[in-house]
Amino acid sequence: MTRVPPELVDNPDRRRWNDRYATSEYAPPTFTPHPLAELVLGMPLPDGPVLELACGPSGGALLAAERGREVTAVDVSDVALNLLADEARRRRVDYLITLIAADLITWRPPPGSAYALVLCIGYWDRALFGDAASVVAAGGVLGWQALSLAARDANPRLPVSWCVRAGEPASLLPPGFQVVSQDDVGPKPATRRRLVARRVG
Ligand SMILES: C[S@@+](CC[C@H](N)C(=O)[O-])C[C@H]1O[C@@H](n2cnc3c(N)ncnc32)[C@H](O)[C@@H]1O
Repeated sequence: MTRVPPELVDNPDRRRWNDRYATSEYAPPTFTPHPLAELVLGMPLPDGPVLELACGPSGGALLAAERGREVTAVDVSDVALNLLADEARRRRVDYLITLIAADLITWRPPPGSAYALVLCIGYWDRALFGDAASVVAAGGVLGWQALSLAARDANPRLPVSWCVRAGEPASLLPPGFQVVSQDDVGPKPATRRRLVARRVG
């Protein structure tokens, strides 16, 4: 079982997402890798570990581990992490995956860490983005997909802070990154923006 730190017990995001992962909306998870995970794991990457943020029961984390990568997978939902842990054990790659139950509002990768790939799908926090980009290793890749402001046309109650603005997230990359692609994706109207960037400097 994933250890839930005391400060996370009453976390509203944890409660909300634990409920969602326990219901039929997500259960049982398919563990199918997200297209962005498949895309970036198919790119040339330097040696080194993978960091997946807001991972959920991630097929991408499993795929990375099956390819021999050490993976650190972070999510606020211990229900999701336990689902991922069970599947990782079933596939005998659990020894490669470190699961961290944490709130990404405050959690940050350890100082000095460097990842061949940093991946985040379905979550947006502007402050986290810069800190996540900073731990991409030389030659490594950052893959990020988040809602864009177009998502608010369909659902005006979506907080603006959950959505990337025009040009983001590429416009927020620190120096030393080259944008491989940034596209609006999803069924029309496209409400998600997908960034792939490589650290070149
Ligand atoms: C839309 S789901 C995406 C899950 C997965 N990346 C995927 O593509 O299927 C959003 C994920 O963000 C996690 N999450 C939401 N708020 C969070 C927070 N404050 N800290 C860490 N994870 C959070 C949820 O538990 C959930 O797994």
